[in-house]
Amino acid sequence: MHAEQPVVGQWDPYRLEQVVTNLIANAIKFGENAPIEIAVTSEDGFARLCVTDHGIGIPAEVQTQLFERFRRGVSSRHYGGLGLGLYITRTIVEAHGGRIRLVSEAGQGSTFCVDLPLSPASATAGQS
Ligand SMILES: Nc1ncnc2c1ncn2[C@@H]1O[C@H](COP(=O)(O)OP(=O)(O)OP(=O)(O)O)[C@@H](O)[C@H]1O
Ligand SMILES: [Mg+2]
Repeated sequence: MHAEQPVVGQWDPYRLEQVVTNLIANAIKFGENAPIEIAVTSEDGFARLCVTDHGIGIPAEVQTQLFERFRRGVSSRHYGGLGLGLYITRTIVEAHGGRIRLVSEAGQGSTFCVDLPLSPASATAGQS
């Protein structure tokens, strides 16, 4: 866990907990027992949370669909789950004026980063 400084923002704490929990749960589930890195930083009125695993990774052709409801990139025989976690996560992040991005390659692990405005005011400022 890397967090050089405390990052303080105005967010719905229960919803934010869901975001963090979903990303870490996926990193554990698909991370093949390798270490998971969590980094929290802040820049230009935004907070950034990145969760990196070194597990199965995600092929490029599947990456664009993963944030849809019930969409899964793995067989349920090998990995349990409904395919709702990332859909819920993206919905919450966008409701806060933020965005979520993914960097991954099949077999090379995955990094999911969430950018959230520190306050509703900085969300508006970021769009202008
Ligand atoms: N860290 C990751 N590494 C590899 N694949 C991932 C990772 N996170 C998500 N995925 C892929 O994205 C799909 C959708 O993820 P999501 O969290 O929405 O669903 P789930 O984990 O399968 O089920 P749920 O979260 O509802 O229990 C997963 O089924 C998996 O194929
Ligand atoms: Mg999940």
